[in-house]
Amino acid sequence: MELFVSKSAAQTFELGRSYAAQLRVGDVLALDGDLGAGKTQFVKGIAAGLGHSGEVTSPTFTLVHEYTGGRLPLFHFDFYRLESDDDALRIGFDDYLGAGGVVAVEWAGKFPGILPASARRLTFAVGDGDERRIELP
Ligand SMILES: Nc1ncnc2c1ncn2[C@@H]1O[C@H](COP(=O)(O)OP(=O)(O)O)[C@@H](O)[C@H]1O
Ligand SMILES: [Mg+2]
Repeated sequence: MELFVSKSAAQTFELGRSYAAQLRVGDVLALDGDLGAGKTQFVKGIAAGLGHSGEVTSPTFTLVHEYTGGRLPLFHFDFYRLESDDDALRIGFDDYLGAGGVVAVEWAGKFPGILPASARRLTFAVGDGDERRIELP
């Protein structure tokens, strides 16, 4: 694990953008941590790094966002509003795992049982002011 201390939303976005370079088909990113800790901001950076253009919004209300047309497809989930792992399966979580892209899941720790053992754990914590502590494998 490597600890990064981000001082701004833009820095967190850039961290996600550089992190994207190492991502490969089938990678699953499990993002956990406080509300407002920068998980969505980081995934926005990943999307940019994978070559997706256009708006990437928080999926909190839409459950899954699909980005195609970049170096690799990106499927962005947020489990925050889901009540059970069945909810996640109902929106097709399993199908996305084998869909030939990268899957990023916010609040993945809510339903650890449906994540593949190979998922990478990324943790985000709010510090003082705009400081965010981000641990990346
Ligand atoms: N260093 C930072 N990294 C990321 N976001 C930051 C940072 N400093 C302030 N922010 C603000 O905190 C919020 C992070 O929101 P978001 O990325 O949606 O968090 P999460 O998805 O973890 O709930 C945004 O409003 C962003 O502008
Ligand atoms: Mg979020």
